[in-house]
Amino acid sequence: MNTRQIQDEILRLKRENDVCILAHSYQAHEILEVADFVGDSFQLSVQAQKAKAGTVLMCGVRFMAETVKILSPEKRVLLSVADAGCPMAEQMDKSLIEHLKEKYPTYTVVAYINTTAELKTVCDVCVTSSSAVKIVGKLESDDILFIPDCNLGAYVKEQLPQKNIMLLQGGCPVHAAVTGEEARAAKAAHPGALLLVHPECRQEVLAHADFIGSTSAIMDFAKKSGQTDFIIGTELSIAEHLQFECPDKRFFPLSKKLYCANMRLTTLMDVYRCVSDGGYEITLPAETITKARRCIDEMIRLG
Ligand code: 13P
Ligand code: SF4
Repeated sequence: MNTRQIQDEILRLKRENDVCILAHSYQAHEILEVADFVGDSFQLSVQAQKAKAGTVLMCGVRFMAETVKILSPEKRVLLSVADAGCPMAEQMDKSLIEHLKEKYPTYTVVAYINTTAELKTVCDVCVTSSSAVKIVGKLESDDILFIPDCNLGAYVKEQLPQKNIMLLQGGCPVHAAVTGEEARAAKAAHPGALLLVHPECRQEVLAHADFIGSTSAIMDFAKKSGQTDFIIGTELSIAEHLQFECPDKRFFPLSKKLYCANMRLTTLMDVYRCVSDGGYEITLPAETITKARRCIDEMIRLG
């Protein structure tokens, strides 16, 4: 079968087997074309609650599928590839956070959504890259422990100087690999191009940015902008998707290091396998779902 034929089969099978396909924007283009909804982490969480189908297939990484399961425990939730995890999500363990909560009882624990369901059970509120500044700004407490991404945390801290934000050492190994020197060199190589950067990048990279935002904010900015040339400082897939959507503009990746092997594990054939014979199901203990849900509900309420 060729790509088009496989896509047609996926579209037929997902209707026949009552499957809704959610895909993070970092997925390959041919996967986005068969998805019912494409978005960044926050948009996917909101969409997870709205999905009507009995089965939801998450094309992305494990914490995203866990979020769907937490929000829709009655649904069968599949992850496109069992091994697709986010290294950042597993960087902090529950006992460390429990210890810090005891030591700093006045602090509100803010967890980036890129965390395990298990870790979310001891956190107060989740945020995504698109909602972090807004949500932290709305919190009653000024004392905040922000985990696990110290780059996103440092960005939030800079935007909200009135808050006392404590950070731990952690982050996205993909975005954190890019250096300020690469940002400077990319701007020199493409004079006139606007540099659009994800806040998971280091501050030395953000310092060169013309715009800082989540995956969807970067895409919206590039699509609506009157400018024609952009350097894209997030996962390589985004420059490719933008090029499809805006063929008259030019998109240059900030660095070839911006490749997330976990996000790119999923192939169109994995999606085909999931909608035809079930795929890898996500299960979570009922207690984890109840406790982890509190901070996701809080995120949706505040965001
Ligand atoms: P957003 O989807 O919130 O932009 O986050 C990017 C990311 O790294 C997802 O894992
Ligand atoms: Fe995790 Fe970074 Fe990959 Fe996103 S891009 S899934 S944060 S490793």
